[in-house]
Order: sequence, then structure tokens, then C-alpha cells
Amino acid sequence: MAGGDPRDRKPDTRLVAAGRKPEWTGPAVNPPVWRASTYLYEESAAQEAGRHVNADGVFHYGARGGPTQWALADALTELEPGAAGTMLYPTGLAAPAIALLSVLKAGDEVLVSDNSYDPTRSFALHALRDYGIGARFFDPLDVEGFAATIGERTKAVLLENPGSLTMEVCDVPALAIAAKARGLFVLLDNTWAGPTGFQALSHGVDMSILALTKHVGGHSDLMMGSVTANAQFYPRLRKRSLLLGQQVSPDDAALALRGLRTMGVRLERSALSALRIAEWLRDRPEVAHVLFPMLPDATGHELWKRDFTGGCGLFTFVLKGGDAAGRDRLVDALELFGIGYSWGGFESLVLGVHPERDRTAMRWPPSAWDPTDRFAVRLWIGLEDPDDLIADLEQAFAALKLA
Ligand SMILES: Cc1ncc(COP(=O)(O)O)c(C=O)c1O
Repeated sequence: MAGGDPRDRKPDTRLVAAGRKPEWTGPAVNPPVWRASTYLYEESAAQEAGRHVNADGVFHYGARGGPTQWALADALTELEPGAAGTMLYPTGLAAPAIALLSVLKAGDEVLVSDNSYDPTRSFALHALRDYGIGARFFDPLDVEGFAATIGERTKAVLLENPGSLTMEVCDVPALAIAAKARGLFVLLDNTWAGPTGFQALSHGVDMSILALTKHVGGHSDLMMGSVTANAQFYPRLRKRSLLLGQQVSPDDAALALRGLRTMGVRLERSALSALRIAEWLRDRPEVAHVLFPMLPDATGHELWKRDFTGGCGLFTFVLKGGDAAGRDRLVDALELFGIGYSWGGFESLVLGVHPERDRTAMRWPPSAWDPTDRFAVRLWIGLEDPDDLIADLEQAFAALKLA
């Protein structure tokens, strides 16, 4: 690749060029799928010597990956300024799990933001407990109170920005400064904006976690996660990940690379459509709140504008009053929105969400709201024409009124 430091290029250019090293791609545009468990050595002496070579991008054994996985990891590292390396995992959930296991040991404790993805919460609370590691939840919007929640045993903080159900934006740099002052590791689930929308390491984060299942895969046919770390933490992340046997298949890595190349245009289109739909929803009499930090005047918009360079089409709206049955009728009446988990694919999705089930440090609904406004619906806006999506929502609101 000619011309200057690749990291100085604009995000869209880096999305296209990242990880395409000629030694991995050969003459092809994309790295071929290197399916291999075994890489052969020319002689015993080379195999013996190979045992002691412990670097990325060196043929050893399939568990350490090959050029297809290396190209993906390299691309993700290149997309995150300040990063030293990236490890890949078979699901998005495995990424925070192993990142936490790489910095915590028995007797330690992690603080987890209360609006985190619920399986991540469950891992922290239940799986870590079996290893003698504690987890407590905190309100990431309470920056003032954060230092006081850090205890003697606290060694790490795990953030999600924005929270993927209720979309609160937290002040990552301020929380990171407070955490670092007490020697904590700072981990962030950055899946919503991704590396082109929020440069996590430049905002004080040590390890940036992505569920590649979402925007990078982009076509609802891939499960994968990644953790990208700075030079201080990458060696321990890599070591723990290899000790735990973490690797992804080269076929999946090739799919993720394919998705990565078009992620910029997909995210831009999804976010633009989502903005139109969110504005439309804000004016509906059935809607009390639209939780979407990209929306001007929405809660969190100022912090989003300060810290982010992009976003995506995932947001939540809250019905004015009503009941769970009405929300179900609305969701069921939608024709273009599939009812299903996940987001980031080309097709729109809808989910009735229940923040009250998981919160222990934040209130749902927030105390400033009318307490009857609490039935939330999360939308992922795909690549359909937003006019059709609005028409679909309009006809579904009619179902809400049927008692
Ligand atoms: C914010 C966030 N992080 C992590 C994950 C986990 O990803 P995966 O479904 O690939 O395990 C999800 C899944 O929905 C998510 O929403």
C-alpha cells in the first residue's frame, strides 16, 4: 500500500485497506481461506525452534490461526489508534469474558456498568464468582460517585457505551481517568459505534471489545467477537486467550473481513434512516421517549457529539403508558421488522426489552419520568427504505390501540 502511515488515513479508507498485506492475500484482493490445523515444518530443527517463536503472524499450529485470521485481527488493530493487537473469539460474549479473565484473579473484583448487555452481566456475576472474583454493578452516569464505588479489591471496570438496551452515553474519558487514578484496568464494549465511530483507546480505554456478530458481520450469518488492546495489555490478553484455546475458523474470518469492507456505508445508511425514523417516532402520541443519542436534544447527545465520530441504527423507544400486552401487539403487527436478537444486519429487527429485569444500580424507568412510561421497544434499522419502515410502524401503532 503506497503513501504515508495507513493510520493517518480516513476511517472509510482504512476499512477498505486494513489488513490486506500481500504476504497474506497473494495476488488476490481478499486473503484466501487458509483452512489448516497443521502447518508443516521442513525439518525437526525448524519445528523445535518454532516452539519458541511466539509472535503473531508466524505459522505454528492452527490454534494460533493463519493468514485469514491474522488479516482480520490486523485490520481491526489498524482501525483502532493506539492498539497493539487484536484477539478473535467465537462469539461476541466470549470477548468480554476472556478480556476479564486476562486481568482478574481470585480475590479481585470488577465493576460493571449497570446497563451492560445482560449475558455479560451474568458472566461477571455468576461465572467469575466460581473463580473467587467478585462483580458489582454501578451507574455509569454518576461520574461524581464513581470513585467512591471503587473498593480495595476492585481491579477492573467494564463499560458499555451506549448501553445497548437503554442507550445511555457515559463519560468514558472521565470514568477512565478516575479508574486509572486507582490503578484499574478499563474495558469497554464498543460494539454500538465500533472503531470508526468511537476511538476507544484514545479515550482512555485499555481493551476495546466488539461483538463482530453485529456490524462487522453485517449479514446476520456470523458469530464472532474481538478484543483490541494497547501495548500494555495486549501481551496478557493474547497469553490468556491462547491458554484458553480461543480461535475462530478461517471461513468465519473471511466472512468478517468481507463484512468489514462495506461496514462504513452500511452504518452510515442505517444511522441516517434511524434518525428519520426516530424523529418520526418522537412526534407520535403513543411514544413517551426516544432513546437515541444521535438524535439532537436526546439525552446523551452532547456527550455523543463530543466523543463519537459515528453511530448506528440501534435505538429504543418507550411507549406512553400502556401495558405489556399492547407492546406485544405492536411488535407482532410489524411486518418488515423481524422479532429477534442481535442487530447490525442488513434487515430491520424489533425486540420488546425489559431493562427492569437486570438493573440493580440504575432505575427503570428513570426516576425523572412518569413511572407509567416503561414499556420499551428496541429497533435495529436495516437497509430497507425508511419510508417503508415508517409505513410499517404506522400500521403497527393501529394494533396498539386494539384492546
Ligand atoms: C452490546 C453487545 N455486546 C456483546 C454481545 C454479544 O455478542 P454475541 O451475540 O456475538 O455473543 C451483544 C449481543 O447482542 C451485544 O448486544
